[in-house]
Amino acid sequence: MTDTTHDIPAEVLEEVETLRVELRRHSYLYYHEARPEISDTEYDELFRRLQALERHYPSLESPDSPTKRVGAPPQARFQTVEHVAPLLSLDSSEKSEDFVRFDERVRRALGEGVTPRYILEPKLDGASIELVYEEGVLTRAVTRGNGQEGEGVTENIRTISTVPLRLRTDVRPAPALLSLRGEVLMYISDFADFNARLAEADIEPYASPRNSAAGSIRQLDSRVTASRKLDLLVYDVLAVDGTSFDSDTAGVEAIREWGFSVPERIQTVTTVDEVLAYHAAFESDRDELDYEIDGVVIKLDDLAARRAMGATSHHPRWAMALKFAPRQEVTVIEKIDIQVGRTGVLTPVAWLRPVVVGGVTVSRASLHNREELRRKDLREGDTVRIQRAGDVIPQVVEVIKHHDERAEPFEMLDRCPVCDTEVYPDGPRTICPNRFGCSAQLKGRIIHFGSRAALDIEGLGDETANLLVDRGMVTQLAELFDVTPDQLVDLEGFGEKSASVLVDAIAATRTPDLRRFLIALGIPEVGVTVARTLAERFGSFHAIRSATIDELVAIDGIGPRMSEAITDFFADERNAAAVDAVLARGVEPQTIEVTASDLPDLGTAVFTGAIPVPRVVAETAWQSVGGRTSGSVSKKTAFVVAGDKAGSKLAKAQKLGVEVLDFDQFIVRLEEHGGSLEGSD
Ligand code: IVH
Repeated sequence: MTDTTHDIPAEVLEEVETLRVELRRHSYLYYHEARPEISDTEYDELFRRLQALERHYPSLESPDSPTKRVGAPPQARFQTVEHVAPLLSLDSSEKSEDFVRFDERVRRALGEGVTPRYILEPKLDGASIELVYEEGVLTRAVTRGNGQEGEGVTENIRTISTVPLRLRTDVRPAPALLSLRGEVLMYISDFADFNARLAEADIEPYASPRNSAAGSIRQLDSRVTASRKLDLLVYDVLAVDGTSFDSDTAGVEAIREWGFSVPERIQTVTTVDEVLAYHAAFESDRDELDYEIDGVVIKLDDLAARRAMGATSHHPRWAMALKFAPRQEVTVIEKIDIQVGRTGVLTPVAWLRPVVVGGVTVSRASLHNREELRRKDLREGDTVRIQRAGDVIPQVVEVIKHHDERAEPFEMLDRCPVCDTEVYPDGPRTICPNRFGCSAQLKGRIIHFGSRAALDIEGLGDETANLLVDRGMVTQLAELFDVTPDQLVDLEGFGEKSASVLVDAIAATRTPDLRRFLIALGIPEVGVTVARTLAERFGSFHAIRSATIDELVAIDGIGPRMSEAITDFFADERNAAAVDAVLARGVEPQTIEVTASDLPDLGTAVFTGAIPVPRVVAETAWQSVGGRTSGSVSKKTAFVVAGDKAGSKLAKAQKLGVEVLDFDQFIVRLEEHGGSLEGSD
């Protein structure tokens, strides 16, 4: 029998349609209304019956079938997709005075006698996403990217149980085109379980639920996304054909009727006091919620009024976020020591008396470099105020009480604490030059090689890497491939099964994705985005390795400093030998089709004022995802990151209409592009 729809028996067509309708209904009852009508087993039976029919009659497969949630085969890369309408950011502040000023501006714009009505929502701390439905069917899901275009992650979003693959139409018909904006979340309780499971397997944990949500939707293998517990809350109609709403409230009502979850406790109010009370109530309930929020969003409800106020190129004038102050706690520095990273940088680290900050136990904080340490004059025994920058990275804000008999000021060492080689200063940083002889650097390289952004070798975490080096089993990166299950079984924490799992996981990286392999080598300046650009431009590892500075500089998004770092890396004899040793173990980075790169230009960032980490750390992090940085603001600056006491650069940015981000917003932006601040110092 040929497999075209008209050859399929009518009763099969009917059964498939009935199964789909029923499965959709039961899934909605289960996930959105928490009142299932059938048991999980009964649901599974219906699901498997539908799967079997679709398998038997492949022409019946359809992208909006409930069976499409289980994940599709891995893709080579994400497509860059333009948004239906730009995904603007929000102007934000932690100060209620700024909201009062915002309210005054709104009142002036609306004219005398008109009372603005605000719609209030929690500001969800997840990953921003656009969903596009055509004729009621989910056709695209796109990450925020640079606001104009992002990455197409449709297959991944399909796996989220609460995302309708087809709009509900029992109350409201489906428009021809609908574009929505929402936030993908991982609940705090699910995040805790998930990280605990990772820790058990010695897999690098995620730093925050947001980080984990963002990482989960950027998986090339959507089956991985399907295995994570995620939710999606939708709060905005970006574009809709054929219908229009007068107010955001009406839009949110429609969103609900089309079958989505929306943020809880949405309210409309008309006075400044009500807004501030809403903010205060959410802030005090913050620790009881099972999801992270970092403030509240205040938007004009009336859509005609919104149009009258308009938007700048990056944020609407009719909305703002009123953020919460960062969570702070007080604790004691028990010890300060120096850690040596894979690039030889010596980083002072404060070991703290463990303290819970916003649901996460903090026991260490990077003190970044000797300048930072001197400026804050931190000493062992001091009582300090700490906070999580961007609610993620722990940092010491200030000393609030000296220890009675104060320890001596902490001095940076003259020699590497691990290999005893004389260290040298490089700006504010201190570096151990013993690249190939320092065991700390080797451990760092191994951990990085197997890390999530690189070759993602499950079971090769900090503990295992330390053991492998300390026991002399691995004396250079390439020797990872020589490790046998028999050797591993002797190590603490390994059994026969976990030993062979790790050896298999290492062996499975013998045909690595080219981008991941580039990241894994730890070439200075080469992070996720640069690796992707190089891979797409050159196609093979060999071509990248032999690229000249001129060829590299000619590529958009790769500046002279990066080009030099890349060519220097491969020109160094010892690096070359280390890379050759890896290739000699039969590692063959995949070649990919060369394309004209269509990566979104991430633009130039300028940092100003007192930001919570040294500027070089923030700059390096932005460059490592392919962004550029500069010391001065011009019309071409993409955004300015303004810390406390920002002065003339901030003023200039405001005058030129350049987007201004606070440090938290910068971290969100960074993470949206797969970057992070951790590990960049
Ligand atoms: S409204 C143009 N509402 O906050 C206004 N944004 O920069 C569009 N966010 O990454 C945003 N919860 O994804 C809005 N209830 C909410 C939100 C929200 C979280 C995120 C948004 C964006 C950031 C604002």
